[in-house]
Amino acid sequence: MKTTPFITFEGPEGAGKTTVLKEIAQKLQQLNIDVLTTREPGGSVIAEKIRNVILDKAHTEMDPRTEALLYAAARSQHFAEKVEPALTAGKMVLCDRFIDSSLTYQGVGRNLGIDAVKAINEFGIGDRMPNVTVLFDLEPAVGLARIEANTGREVNRLDKESLAFHESVRQAYLQLAARYPERICIIDASQPLEKVVEAAWECIEPIVKG
Ligand code: TYD
Repeated sequence: MKTTPFITFEGPEGAGKTTVLKEIAQKLQQLNIDVLTTREPGGSVIAEKIRNVILDKAHTEMDPRTEALLYAAARSQHFAEKVEPALTAGKMVLCDRFIDSSLTYQGVGRNLGIDAVKAINEFGIGDRMPNVTVLFDLEPAVGLARIEANTGREVNRLDKESLAFHESVRQAYLQLAARYPERICIIDASQPLEKVVEAAWECIEPIVKG
């Protein structure tokens, strides 16, 4: 089956992933590359409904395993409905968060274990991993302060976790980058936006040029 590059954007809250993803998509379109931009959790009608259940601030009793399974369920639906068909049709896919978010937030942040969370996700999506993952590395305190300053963005259930939780997520991302150096490209997200866009572009350029 013919597939095209599948690129994911990962990192903590407030790292600028979403803004940079849009700029990269524009650059690709200027090169006449057909791109699908999407996000997790959500990205399709059913997966957005699951997203609302997961992120609802009222759902404070949610068990960590339920949380991990719901993220995996949203991912499975979004992957089958949106990502895989786009790749098969020859579209490059840029996805805001993917499996690494579960490996870090649920696997490490929630202490479920990276391998256990990887296993339930593989049930959902098979072994299709992204070709490149751009990791926006940032001190959690800086990211969370950016979110607070950005009044337009809704604060969700995960944002409300402690700084220690977000610090463990950051360390987990760095650990994953060491485990998958050929896939994960780390960029310093504390730089000014245009520098971050430039760094993200350098990560994906080799695969764009093919
Ligand atoms: P969102 O508002 O999309 O945040 P962001 O702009 O930071 O991407 O909320 C997604 C939240 O869900 C975010 O706190 C990270 C978390 N998350 C997980 O814990 N596991 C996952 O598998 C995914 C995809 C997201």
